[in-house]
Amino acid sequence: MRLTEETVLVTGASSGIGRELARCFAAEGCRLVLLARKKAALESLADELRRACKTQSEVLTADLAAPEAPQRLFDHLRANGTKVDVLVNNAGFGAKGRFAELAADRQIDMVQVNVAALMHLTRLFLPAMIERHRGGVLNVASTAAFQPGPGMAVYYATKAFVLSFTEAVAEEVMGTGVTVSALCPGATATNFAAAAGARTSAFFDRNAMSAAMVAAIGHRAFRQGQVVKIAGVRNRWLAFGVRLGPRALVRKIAKRFNDASYARS
Ligand SMILES: NC(=O)c1ccc[n+]([C@@H]2O[C@H](COP(=O)([O-])OP(=O)(O)OC[C@H]3O[C@@H](n4cnc5c(N)ncnc54)[C@H](OP(=O)(O)O)[C@@H]3O)[C@@H](O)[C@H]2O)c1
Repeated sequence: MRLTEETVLVTGASSGIGRELARCFAAEGCRLVLLARKKAALESLADELRRACKTQSEVLTADLAAPEAPQRLFDHLRANGTKVDVLVNNAGFGAKGRFAELAADRQIDMVQVNVAALMHLTRLFLPAMIERHRGGVLNVASTAAFQPGPGMAVYYATKAFVLSFTEAVAEEVMGTGVTVSALCPGATATNFAAAAGARTSAFFDRNAMSAAMVAAIGHRAFRQGQVVKIAGVRNRWLAFGVRLGPRALVRKIAKRFNDASYARS
């Protein structure tokens, strides 16, 4: 028997944390809409979920760097009669390097994917959730949200947006029956570093959590209605420490942390 009849849209479901979040929702019996650019990876996940969880998934490919992608996706699902109960805004990427040296287009795409598409998808799907008094939005932020990130300046700033935006909307929907949550992972073993044009260091690898662990923590926190969930005790302490330190010191430490975690590949 299904535990839930919900339909869950997961962006960035082709790898890493998004793929694991899809597995968590599928294990509850949810139907999945899996979105990313890599069709083969999405189809293989859909196959796995059909066999392992007896759940149906729809595979959709889209490049969220295209400003029109969220509206197209929304229109397609509405035309098919698919009601999205839970939106998981997970797709995102970073770029390692100095702001003034990284290609402008790549950084603009990053703001489009990490910020604009996340905000636009939320705006499109949230009103129907509020009307139905159920469901919600799980946004994947980062511990990068808590401080500036020299060496990944735009990426850190996008995640600060995600956290601030999520907390504000969560407060606005309080009492409607809809949950809006931000998951803040720290270092996690995924394709993120390679996509950011970097190699992870031994320091990163020693401290990284698995994507499955991070997703399980985020999924549980969302189901419990938590607004902000930082994955892992060490990451919670780090985020707390950042609040106590002077900002001038915090940004210097963040620079060192980035230099110690990633090397340009
Ligand atoms: N790994 C970490 O250390 C870490 C820490 C904190 C937060 N996060 C956040 O976790 C989320 C997931 O990242 P991950 O670590 O799991 O990395 P990942 O393995 O590289 O996964 C990123 C996902 O986003 C999708 N994506 C990227 N650009 C896209 C675009 N233009 N259009 C549509 N989909 C796109 C990718 O799919 P396609 O390539 O198939 O399009 C992929 O499924 C991101 O928001 C990231 O910022 C990661």
